[in-house]
Amino acid sequence: SEVLKVGLLGLGTVGSGVVKLIENHQQELRHQIGLPVQVEKVLVRDRSKARDVVLSEESVTLYGEEIVENANIDVVIEVMGGITLAKEYIVRALKNGKHVVTANKDLMAVHGAELLSLAAENGCDLFYEASVAGGIPIIRSLTDGLAADRITKMMGIVNGTTNYILTKMTKEGLDYEEVLAQAQALGFAESDPTADVEGLDAARKMAILATLGFSMDVELDDVVVRGISSVTKTDLEYCEQLGYTMKLIGLADRDGDRVEVSVQPTLLPKEHPLAAVNDEYNAVYVYGEAVGETMFYGPGAGSLPTATAVVSDLVSVLKNMRYRVNGHDGAKPLHKKTLKADNE
Ligand code: NDP
Ligand code: HSE
Repeated sequence: SEVLKVGLLGLGTVGSGVVKLIENHQQELRHQIGLPVQVEKVLVRDRSKARDVVLSEESVTLYGEEIVENANIDVVIEVMGGITLAKEYIVRALKNGKHVVTANKDLMAVHGAELLSLAAENGCDLFYEASVAGGIPIIRSLTDGLAADRITKMMGIVNGTTNYILTKMTKEGLDYEEVLAQAQALGFAESDPTADVEGLDAARKMAILATLGFSMDVELDDVVVRGISSVTKTDLEYCEQLGYTMKLIGLADRDGDRVEVSVQPTLLPKEHPLAAVNDEYNAVYVYGEAVGETMFYGPGAGSLPTATAVVSDLVSVLKNMRYRVNGHDGAKPLHKKTLKADNE
């Protein structure tokens, strides 16, 4: 086909970011993959909801079947969230030979192995970069950039909502409920924010990271979890007075075959680099036997940062050959360079 046609399951915080990114970065996408990208059909639950993206009436549907069974659609992007229905649609898409990109850590942390096997059986890609740490390309870094190393430890902040809450409570003295409402309004929180504040969202992400980083089948139940819902402003004030900052820290540690994975509120000395990671930002240290210490930092939640990870997965699907146009050479630079000094 002359156009890459995408079906989008969900048009919320992430889905609308994906539509905007595809519209606004057509030139970059075309340069990378040699084809224009078009959002063919979008699944929503409520047609009457106000949206900040404009789509034609016929491109919006209330029926996921119109996407996963649609012969015109090449790649399905799942950004609706939840487990049961999202899984059903992804399974149907893969069985129909469609490549799938998802941001769904709830699903990948529990059914990832099964879905990845199904994708392989059907000769399809299933990519999920956005499922961990929003806009930070951490999955790609583990499975690609650091693939030759033996990872021994990963430690960091992998939930934007709780980091936003702890930052605002600590630095601005705001109340827990008030800041949680802000994080929800900004689109950082899960539809049920209990998953964020009780540490479950971070635990899902740590299970995914440990599975990939350690090449082991680390399950959600293996993760020891404590959240931040009982942390008070007074607790945070005491921490600050004693020279510490509280962060919700995910840790995955490996000693040979022995693995320990946890998520818990942790007191860090103020000068620790993770103590300076604020708001919805995430950061992950990855330790490899050969590389030593690496650190990945960036926005861990939000519409466009997360959409960047999703749409970059779409580019990866394309680069995995199937739609690459003959003769297209994305290695050549897209832009002519002008040095800033020449403009001054
Ligand atoms: P939202 O709640 O903002 O959006 C969900 C979208 O899916 C909505 O458009 C909703 O329709 C649609 N939808 C949900 N259930 C159904 C259904 N049963 N039938 C039809 N449509 C449905 O979620 P987010 O965009 O925040 O998150 C999407 C996914 O991305 C989740 O898996 C989340 O964990 C993950 N994620 C989110 C990040 C973020 O920063 N928000 C970051 C990284 C990952 P309608 O609009 O009509 O209600
Ligand atoms: N609710 C998640 C967070 C979204 O706050 O980190 C990004 O995965």
